Amino acid sequence: MIIAPSLLAANFGRLAAETVRVDNARADWLHLDIMDGHFVPNLSFGPEVVRVLRPLTRIPFDVHLMCSRPEVLLIPFAEAGASHIIVHVELADRVTPLIWKIKSLGLKVGLAVNPPTAIAAAQPFLDQIDQLLIMTVNPGFGGQPFISEMVPKIQQARAWRQEKNLRYHIEVDGGINFKTAVECARAGAGVFVSGSALFGRRQFTRAVRTMRDLLQPFKNL
Ligand code: DX5
Ligand code: ZN
Repeated sequence: MIIAPSLLAANFGRLAAETVRVDNARADWLHLDIMDGHFVPNLSFGPEVVRVLRPLTRIPFDVHLMCSRPEVLLIPFAEAGASHIIVHVELADRVTPLIWKIKSLGLKVGLAVNPPTAIAAAQPFLDQIDQLLIMTVNPGFGGQPFISEMVPKIQQARAWRQEKNLRYHIEVDGGINFKTAVECARAGAGVFVSGSALFGRRQFTRAVRTMRDLLQPFKNL
């Protein structure tokens, strides 16, 4: 079970110290939300921030591009130290060339599905991706409530993975706290992006450990 704190919920005045905190807490990945103010109605940060954080930890950087023109950002984020790049299936006929380009940069590729989008939209790409990210909130902001209607998508993603003998991670993102993480794990999720539920706690390391302990019973599901 992979725990990926989302830096969007961290103290932006201390991003370096917050990254070290994630590392000390032995989180598995660092989730980095990149928002362009167009694909989503919010702005976050760019490749330069990722570049200065890269030397502070060896854990994978899970870069989530909520951007309308990810094509122009792939090389800058790859050079900045991204380990995975996630693009949105809502980009439609641009998804295949994006997947190809991300792979050609030697990175892991993820595909994200927004709440209003049917999970079937991801089906043509399942054998080409390393991660299928099921958005459990509408993208653009942290601290939103979990949308429980997304749980059947997780179950479908698991069923396809079994049927087609595929290996992609099932990642959930948005409103993930101790309770909703367990709900998603029971449905088949294996990667848990969590922002406010982890960074909102004074005892960050204990919060990561508690989430990990709660998820252990589901790891072989
Ligand atoms: C939302 C982002 C999420 C968000 C999660 O668009 O993709 O990664 O930061 O934050 P919480 O866990 O607070 O919902
Ligand atoms: Zn995200």
